[in-house]
Amino acid sequence: MDYLDFFNLKEDPFGLTPDSHYFYPSKMHNDVLATLDYAVEQKEGFSLIIGEPGTGKTTILKIFIDRWKERAEIALIMTPRLSSEELLQAILDDLNIRLETANKNEMIKTFRDFLIARSLADTRVIIIVDEAQNLSDGCLEELRLLSNLETEKEKLLQIILVGQPELQRRLHSEGLRQLDQRISIRATLRSLTEVETSDYISFRLIKAGKGSAIFNENAKKMIHRLSGGIPRLINLTASRAMMVAYIGSSNQILKRHILDTVKHIPEAQLKSISRHRTLRYAAATLLLISLILVSFIGYNTLQYNSKPPQGTTHSVPQNVTAKTPPEKPETLSAPTQDAPAAVQRVATVTVNAARVREGPSLHADVADIVSKGDSFEITDEWTEASGNRWYKVRLPDEGEYWIASYIVKVGSLR
Ligand SMILES: Nc1ncnc2c1ncn2[C@@H]1O[C@H](COP(=O)(O)OP(=O)(O)O)[C@@H](O)[C@H]1O
Ligand SMILES: [Mg+2]
Repeated sequence: MDYLDFFNLKEDPFGLTPDSHYFYPSKMHNDVLATLDYAVEQKEGFSLIIGEPGTGKTTILKIFIDRWKERAEIALIMTPRLSSEELLQAILDDLNIRLETANKNEMIKTFRDFLIARSLADTRVIIIVDEAQNLSDGCLEELRLLSNLETEKEKLLQIILVGQPELQRRLHSEGLRQLDQRISIRATLRSLTEVETSDYISFRLIKAGKGSAIFNENAKKMIHRLSGGIPRLINLTASRAMMVAYIGSSNQILKRHILDTVKHIPEAQLKSISRHRTLRYAAATLLLISLILVSFIGYNTLQYNSKPPQGTTHSVPQNVTAKTPPEKPETLSAPTQDAPAAVQRVATVTVNAARVREGPSLHADVADIVSKGDSFEITDEWTEASGNRWYKVRLPDEGEYWIASYIVKVGSLR
């Protein structure tokens, strides 16, 4: 019995290709679609849609094209790493404009005639560039020149640029200011909220045939935490978790299945991603980054301490005090032994996603993942023979677990 049979599903609910059938109409996605409709209806000229990778830009374009394909001629450029001549050629090809010449002036003239004819027939002509951050400055300038094709009354051409946030930054630069000023409609795709993430998961499951898979609320919350609400990363985490549940013959997907997906990131993969760590910190909410950081905890300790934790204790010590004198944490206001009873020490997480474990060892099971800025009461501490230091922390409603000292900042509450 395979994975889909096990969950009684018709198809994979969390595929990674944009698919209109699975379109979840979140308020944000709907607003962006409405903005695009407005831009084209009102002949606004240039529109710009910005979103981090995986937020649903290409998905929205698919829906938008489906809506407009009867009323518009649409050129969709998906691979915009072209010279400006190639871009023009690609646009004309996509619009089925036959050319007798490769002379640029002639091409523009033919294009203008085409636009006027379509305008008389009340048909919109739309150029969409996906991944537009990859357009060269030359191509962006070419598009700006094309947008000059207008009659006295109205714009003949609608251009929609869709790209990652760096496109926005580039448009603010000196060389592209003229184009930036032409953009009259702008929208940004953000990530889904926790409630929307939960809805999104259920929605996609229903679309895939309902089946018997059930994500419980804690599992959905954990997916939101790991994915930052970015649909592509929600899909990645959810499908991995379903695989883990399937292997364990459970049709319920629980928080521990999500935690398992993090645990099983292969070391080799981590190492290759880790080389790009600094580059990627910027997108810290992304799941991959969370996964890297989370899984990195183990890897990093080994790397940075250059002392493998040989002889680590696997059992959880009961109320042990540090065997080795602990290094004094920077923000620690009072040493443990001398701390007056009124001082409550707290550990605040300093990385985006941190693993807490059943015991003070990298070999201990992962009990939960906590987020940057979360603070927990410290109830104990332990230093492994290798020198790795651990704090026992109390998680609200969830008991006490262990967290490595180098991913927290220790302070005190009085
Ligand atoms: N509103 C949505 N409804 C359903 N699936 C979505 C939605 N937004 C994104 N996705 C899914 O997330 C993944 C990434 O979406 P995509 O449109 O490729 O993002 P982007 O183009 O911004 O990188 C795809 O698998 C897509 O199906
Ligand atoms: Mg895309």
